[in-house]
Amino acid sequence: MFPLRRNRRLRTNDAIRSLVRETIITPNDFLVPLFVVEGKGVKEEIASMPNYYRYSLDLLENEVKELWKMGLKSVLLFVKVPDNLKDNEGTEAINPNGLMQRAIQTVKSAAPGMFVMTDVALDPYSSYGHDGIVADGKILNDETNEVLAQMSISHAQAGADMVAPSDMMDGRILEIREALDEENFIDTGIMSYSAKYASAFYGPFRDALDSAPGFGDKKTYQMDPANRFEAIRETEMDIDEGADIVMVKPGIAYLDIVREIKNEVDVPVSVYQVSGEYAMIKAAAAKGWLDHDAVMMEQLIAIKRAGADIIASYFAKDVVRLLS
Ligand code: PBG
Repeated sequence: MFPLRRNRRLRTNDAIRSLVRETIITPNDFLVPLFVVEGKGVKEEIASMPNYYRYSLDLLENEVKELWKMGLKSVLLFVKVPDNLKDNEGTEAINPNGLMQRAIQTVKSAAPGMFVMTDVALDPYSSYGHDGIVADGKILNDETNEVLAQMSISHAQAGADMVAPSDMMDGRILEIREALDEENFIDTGIMSYSAKYASAFYGPFRDALDSAPGFGDKKTYQMDPANRFEAIRETEMDIDEGADIVMVKPGIAYLDIVREIKNEVDVPVSVYQVSGEYAMIKAAAAKGWLDHDAVMMEQLIAIKRAGADIIASYFAKDVVRLLS
């Protein structure tokens, strides 16, 4: 008899749909990116990221307490560095009393249980806006790695639980792992931005940190969006070098890569739903062209369905509010 199997039976009503649902989003999925600035009483909205802010340390404290209360237990810290502290070598990045180091301490004292991850790359500190040291218009690999390793130690000393190198230099994971171990930070983890593409979706983030490259682009270190095998090679190398968590970035346009990496590796896979993805949804919703909450959830479910164990997302608070 036709049809013996009717797939619509399992879609009859909400109860059966929720019973057979394969992918569920919870607050535990999220890593919350936070932007920190110098000053007091500062909560500045980022122009290209509506309802997302840069906080000075005093207000960061409130924000972190609120996140903790909402059940959001992990943050990823970024700092906006004043221009006069920027140079080619990222000297300020290893200042033990620098903004990042103080931000780590602030988060830990506001919410001691909060898992603190930190961005490790030179771009916010670089007078050239590049992720590495520049010489003759080129980005130096091994010299940059040395700074990244020192930066990682400095973050660990300030209390970071995990460092997150986002720079795409070759060999930096091993260099960082060895440096941390040498200083006895054996429990400080590494989340590697292992398959990070040279993407135009990072535009709003560079506004947020004033970190756009001053010359050229990042294509000599970030990956070509056209490449797939390379993403697997990058990721496997980072795992061999000691990465505890790997990452694919951006999210929605790279879900084929997420699935492939998830099938290939046995460490947790994180996905960064980046600033441009956030901005697109906010902008279309503001125009009344898309349903904000529905599109937000659909994209996050798609990211998790593709294989993300962890999602770094500017929507984390919006989602928790929607779920509760
Ligand atoms: C910098 C860094 C970038 C992002 C995270 N770390 C930007 C870049 O590589 O230019 C992007 C995050 C986002 O767009 O939300 N190392």
